[in-house]
Amino acid sequence: QIPLWLDCDPGHDDACAILLAAYHPSLDLIGISTVHGNASLANITVNALSVLEAIGKPKLPVIPGSARPFCRLAHTASATHGASGLAGTSLLPEPSRSALTHCNAILEMRDALRAQPKDTAWLVATGPLTNIALLFALDPDLAHHIAGLSIMGGAIGGDFTDVIMGRPPELDSRTGATQKRIGNRTPWAEFNIWADPESARAVLQNPLLQPKTTLITLDVTHQAYANPDVQNTLLHGAHGPTRLRTMFNELLMFFAERYADVYDLTQGPPLHDPIAVAVLLGTQMDEAMRIGFNDRGGERWNVDVVLEGEQLGRTVATKAESGKGVTIPRSLDLAQFWRSLESCM
Ligand code: BDR
Ligand code: CA
Repeated sequence: QIPLWLDCDPGHDDACAILLAAYHPSLDLIGISTVHGNASLANITVNALSVLEAIGKPKLPVIPGSARPFCRLAHTASATHGASGLAGTSLLPEPSRSALTHCNAILEMRDALRAQPKDTAWLVATGPLTNIALLFALDPDLAHHIAGLSIMGGAIGGDFTDVIMGRPPELDSRTGATQKRIGNRTPWAEFNIWADPESARAVLQNPLLQPKTTLITLDVTHQAYANPDVQNTLLHGAHGPTRLRTMFNELLMFFAERYADVYDLTQGPPLHDPIAVAVLLGTQMDEAMRIGFNDRGGERWNVDVVLEGEQLGRTVATKAESGKGVTIPRSLDLAQFWRSLESCM
């Protein structure tokens, strides 16, 4: 089993990431930290506890981390996740315990990862990167200890991908040219990066971390739409709906409505965050467990983050020299991805 720590802001798709991390037989979820993002840190932390309760893992450690970004105000994503951050179902249980507020999330994360043998544990980040930036500022050498860092964040667009967001191209006010929308928070920027761009830049430009980092951008996550067929499979499985499947179905229906309203995306909501967990399964020896990712033979990218102006939070990727940069897959084995998520339900 691959040990992993999940830093998240649940969030409908984060909830699916928690499920995959907690129940995939090849993974060992050792702890969860929360970060500002889809809603306030207080809401996000309750959501994480509720999801763990719902999926039958009420004892996993949940430690609240950063309530705001380094040098900006916190912004939420209530348009897509609702005010609570996880709206759309009445089946989410109240947590039966509190989060570990006497612990420091950054130190706990460090100790839990350091307690695993070298080159075995993964860190998966599915929210803004504030906690992750703090962690590697505190303990830079941790980069040598972990097996990998998988991040959901960013959008590349351009020649990188043929996949485009649901909206029609928008006018670039600077150049006057029409521009494909590549981001979801702004035409340029993906939410997790936009919400704390300074932290994102610190993480993505960290030379010690780069060889260990995989970035799952919207270019990939917008291939994984939970369309009606997928929703049906997740709801029914082999033996029909259960309370848990119904709860996830209600959450995904809400997410679908929000994506239709906000982005004109009617094929279903993209399930961004569990794909960052699925990265860990890309290396499985057992073919039945492996989720293949296409990074065109190991291309690596230097990713910079725009810190001001109209393109704030944009991830600008240029081909990296050998041995440098981060991995950005371009596609994944979708059928295997949905199968894995369904089996966890
Ligand atoms: C990311 O933003 C959040 O709203 C989602 O949970 C996901 O992590 C997608 O841009
Ligand atoms: Ca998230």
